[in-house]
Amino acid sequence: MSILVTGGVGFIGSHTVVELQNAGYDVVVLDNLCNSNKKVLKRIEAITGKPVPFYEADIRDRKALEDIFAKEKIDSCIHFAGLKAVGESVEKPLEYYDNNIAGTLVLLDVMRKHGCKNIIFSSSATVYGDPAVIPITEECPKGQCTNPYGWTKSMLEQIMTDMQKADPEWNVVLLRYFNPIGAHKSGTMGENPNGIPNNLMPYITQVAVGKREELGVFGNDYDTPDGTGVRDYIHVVDLAIGHVKALKKIEEKAGLNIYNLGTGTGYSVLDVVKNFEAATGVKIAYSIKPRRAGDVAVCYSDASKAERELGWKAQYGIREMCEDSWRWQKNNPNGYDD
Ligand code: NAD
Ligand code: UFG
Repeated sequence: MSILVTGGVGFIGSHTVVELQNAGYDVVVLDNLCNSNKKVLKRIEAITGKPVPFYEADIRDRKALEDIFAKEKIDSCIHFAGLKAVGESVEKPLEYYDNNIAGTLVLLDVMRKHGCKNIIFSSSATVYGDPAVIPITEECPKGQCTNPYGWTKSMLEQIMTDMQKADPEWNVVLLRYFNPIGAHKSGTMGENPNGIPNNLMPYITQVAVGKREELGVFGNDYDTPDGTGVRDYIHVVDLAIGHVKALKKIEEKAGLNIYNLGTGTGYSVLDVVKNFEAATGVKIAYSIKPRRAGDVAVCYSDASKAERELGWKAQYGIREMCEDSWRWQKNNPNGYDD
């Protein structure tokens, strides 16, 4: 039996495929390559020594999904495929609702039709909105999202919750990621954003490698120790291992379960800059800019539920996250493009 990994060529999906193969699982990858590069597959194979069966397909393409489920013996799905750029989602809400929501509805329907009722879904800390409690536990109420991307995650959580309630044969694990950074230790796989990076770490590494002049720090007047935004950065390999551990709940046929995947520690923007400089010896030029619309001051997890129930705990600290992000960027200044 295989695990279907949708979006398995992307940043988090590719690292998860490595950890799944290392743990002995058979994997099938589906991706439409709208935000990724096929060369990743060779890099995965070089790390694990195993072939990666791949289908270039869109989750909205029912016929393509039917063919994959007819051909492969899929036991469970880890569902990463989706659009994720917050700013772009504000400009193109229909595209985001279509890709993320309509696409997931097709996927769920085809899974059901083929008797595959096990899914692990990539959700996000964004569903908490401006969090009511810090550190954020899974019991913390979901909040108002500030952009369509966030709403797609919140709505998909609701859809899968309702689906599981109506049909308890489904096993659903909703994983709420905090801020994934870092890269594979080999330096051959990492984050590869198109254009100007939206997120903090890829922006820092592009300044470090000389592609960008300076980092803009979005606000230094938040109610935080140094005034800059605080987040829970988590190494992408820890996050990937979290998915392997989450399969335990699927194997136990445990119904619906929700977990935060974070480290439980918050770092400010300037903490990250300082840690990056200390870990790499590369100076990061920065200047203070106005706040970015939609940002919250502080967001970090209480990740103890995942530790208690899945036996999962993040192993890597901020220094390794910085070292590994830098090794990837330095060795691959243009990402997967030669
Ligand atoms: P990514 O863009 O690197 O990976 C997503 C992959 O999905 C890409 O390879 C893309 O080509 C593919 N894809 C998109 N739409 C598709 C479609 N309709 N059909 C088939 N493939 C499609 O992003 P990532 O950072 O690896 O994120 C993976 C998942 O985790 C996403 O659902 C994202 O929303 C979620 N997430 C990411 C973060 C983050 O900060 N990176 C945080 C929380 C949640
Ligand atoms: N920041 C800067 N300058 C930049 C980029 C970011 O100062 O150039 C700051 C932000 O203001 C924020 C912090 O760095 O305080 C982190 O910002 P990111 O954009 O890296 O991450 P976010 O917390 O805003 O959001 C990310 C993903 C969302 C996801 C969320 C929670 O982009 O999709 O983590 O998982 F929902």
